[in-house]
Amino acid sequence: MTWRANVLTLFPEMFPGPLGASLIGKALEKKLWFLDVRDIREHGIGKHRTVDDTPAGGGPGMVIRADVACAAIDRAREANPDVPTAYLSPRGAPLTQARVRALASGPGAILLCGRFEGLDQRAIDARQLEEVSIGDFVLAGGEIAAMALIEACVRLIPGVLGDETSPADESFSTGLLEYPQYTRPQSFEGTEIPPALLGGNHAEIAKWRREQAENLTKSRRPDLWTLYEKGKA
Ligand code: 6GU
Repeated sequence: MTWRANVLTLFPEMFPGPLGASLIGKALEKKLWFLDVRDIREHGIGKHRTVDDTPAGGGPGMVIRADVACAAIDRAREANPDVPTAYLSPRGAPLTQARVRALASGPGAILLCGRFEGLDQRAIDARQLEEVSIGDFVLAGGEIAAMALIEACVRLIPGVLGDETSPADESFSTGLLEYPQYTRPQSFEGTEIPPALLGGNHAEIAKWRREQAENLTKSRRPDLWTLYEKGKA
């Protein structure tokens, strides 16, 4: 079974966008994963295919109608039963590498992209949508967040990354941020590559990298450092 992203959006022309480039795009061409993008407006109401309306209780902006959103979700679920459905929203639970790994190892994801002020809460409740955010900042819509989620999942699918690039050692897999990398030239603007990396002593290199990763994590991400130390105990 090939991993499938099913995107529900008011701006289908935004896809594949960056997902069509580089290793992720090559993998799409090679059918190592599928991208199915559907225009929510197909389920719009009346001659004008209306998808939104003013917020109950007043306030700025527009809200996506529950009936329209649910029709789009139901259509996607018909074709993809038992696929998790996420609603991309800055109110969602922060996306983690653990959730990415779980989604990547399943059949795929149905991703509903919000725009405007939001989505009628009854759609979220009635279809039990998992609300997902990609960080504590606000985008104009869920599309770029959906692309981020898809890219994070697809790069874990076997065969998508080159042989040399293994996800095993990278940030979040070890619980630590990644150590600094260097390449030629040996001297750049008067700064040398750290000598520990140049002797060919694998134990010394591993020790240096671990220390760097630990110090970086301690200073930059004390939240991750605390989890890491608990994990060791
Ligand atoms: Cl998922 N959507 C929007 N609109 N903004 C966000 C986000 C999602 N995640 C972080 N900011």
